[in-house]
Amino acid sequence: MTSSEIRTRFLEFFKKRGHTIIPSASLVTSDEKGVTNPTLFNTAGMQPLIPYLLGKPFLDNDGKEIKRLADAQKCLRTVDIDEVGDTVHATFFEMLGNWSLGDYFKKEAINWSYEFLTSKEEGLGLDPKRLYITVFEGDGNAPRDDEAAEIWASTLGLSTTATSRSPTSAVGRIFFMSADKNWWEAGNDGPCGPDSEMYYDVANRFGGREIAQEEFVDADEKKDLVEVWNDVFMQYEKKDGKIIGKLPKPSVDTGAGLERLAMTLQKVDNIYDIDLLKPVMEKIKELSKNWDIKSARIFADHIRASVFLTADGVIPGNTDRGYVLRRLIRRFVRHADTLGINQNAAASVFGKIIDVYADTYDDLKKQDKNIRSVLVAEETKYRETANKGFHELRRRLKDKGTFSTNDLFDFYQSYGLSKEQLKETLSELPIKFDEKDFDDLVKNHQALSRAGAEKKFKGGLADANDPMVVRYHTATHLLHQALHDILGNEVSQKGSNITPERLRFDFSYPSKMTDEQKKKVEEIVNEKIALKLTVNQVVMPSEEAVKTGAYHFFNEKYPEQVSVYYIGDDIDHAYSKEFCGGPHVANTGELAGPEGKWKFKLKKEEAVAQGVRRIRAVLE
Ligand code: ALA
Repeated sequence: MTSSEIRTRFLEFFKKRGHTIIPSASLVTSDEKGVTNPTLFNTAGMQPLIPYLLGKPFLDNDGKEIKRLADAQKCLRTVDIDEVGDTVHATFFEMLGNWSLGDYFKKEAINWSYEFLTSKEEGLGLDPKRLYITVFEGDGNAPRDDEAAEIWASTLGLSTTATSRSPTSAVGRIFFMSADKNWWEAGNDGPCGPDSEMYYDVANRFGGREIAQEEFVDADEKKDLVEVWNDVFMQYEKKDGKIIGKLPKPSVDTGAGLERLAMTLQKVDNIYDIDLLKPVMEKIKELSKNWDIKSARIFADHIRASVFLTADGVIPGNTDRGYVLRRLIRRFVRHADTLGINQNAAASVFGKIIDVYADTYDDLKKQDKNIRSVLVAEETKYRETANKGFHELRRRLKDKGTFSTNDLFDFYQSYGLSKEQLKETLSELPIKFDEKDFDDLVKNHQALSRAGAEKKFKGGLADANDPMVVRYHTATHLLHQALHDILGNEVSQKGSNITPERLRFDFSYPSKMTDEQKKKVEEIVNEKIALKLTVNQVVMPSEEAVKTGAYHFFNEKYPEQVSVYYIGDDIDHAYSKEFCGGPHVANTGELAGPEGKWKFKLKKEEAVAQGVRRIRAVLE
């Protein structure tokens, strides 16, 4: 079954059951305050519908309230960007969803999910014997979802005793799982509730038999069982990460990943072989001179995301959404390079995406020229930067005569070149490239920056007793944000060192700061001190923390729970947000000293390496 047919069947199925079909919202979240989560992009089908899940009436054009909706929503998630290239991860994907806005609840939702998945006539015709289900086991927030388990047991024709209730040895098809798996919420605020997930035994590993919970967990890990659908029973509302009460009308939010359903139905073992991505992969293969499956998948995924982002009006830039798009384009150009596609990567491939999706998203075809020009311009600009790097390399070589692997590594760091780009340039120059030493340096650097991030996360607890050190910690956060305000998002932290006498902050930026820029940065920090803003700490899952926009190291792996400090009354509107273990002052007013007279002053701004600047600043 084609992806397009899955989409159509889904929407038709729910239309027949009283749902109004709505078009996908943009990938870009609404900026209207209080309307959606403070994420840059819609990361799940429910996000554009949050206000309605919370009780706001959804009105049609005639002002009539609608309580049942269905759609296929475009989504973009960059939290798993490092996993892209494996068999199932993607940044862009489509989520099929049916919604009850205070109308039907668990029984209908579960029955319809099951019917759609298994019906040959109207649905997908999956084998009911290969379906396994999870439901919420209960915790301090909400009780165990026996109701959902019982509805499932009767839907599947099982006696309820076949349900595995907590003891891991119990055999069944329905498993109680913890909140990690069976609780849904988007961010710290908004509707939330227990959910029930449906898994399909794609590998037919169990031949339709009932299984033990351990077998379920193992098959899930090995991707023999693939999650194909999630029904969320929205019952509660959260604020600042805490449940503040029940929703006036419970609602249903469902999500079925189109790509994963297609993978199951098209009997392929990875999403890049489904009909939506295969033509793109084939085109990349045709152009490639050095085939590398991972690079090809990253290229295919990122160019697809870039096409859709551009169509939704995002343009590459140095801040927020534009920055995400810029990173995606630069990354696919780098991977195109790895594949030996050294020019026109965007122009040669983007058309395939438009062809595949033209029937579903007609704006893509209309925007064809615009998309092309945005992607081509960014690729060209990026390649020029890389070229500048080559010239600089030649110049330095002339000056120095020789180049060590260390020099090369420094150079690679400051120009953001890929290893392949570096290798290619070096092949034209009399420089020996010791690939093994170079790889060791890269690994070593990654380990160091990981350690740095951990240190940053843990914070300098040893110094927590020195009030000056604590003040400088908070001043560093204000400075970091002020640098972003004035210099843009090219700024990223490279290091920080604090003593009771001063702060030192290293960050990436290509040129010397002007006096005007320095003055502005000082003014901003002093203004935030004068405003006496509160400094707050929250501990939250790192995935959620990333969604808040808190600064962190882009490529770093963080623990499951992280500590975030934000400066301002609430995290959504905070002036500064960073992953950090502290310590910090409670109020920025404390940075003005005991008598409230100190000012924040930049004492020195200098280069420490190509593309890395260092600031020393004091409170005095
Ligand atoms: N909101 C739920 C999810 O994204 C359906 O999995």
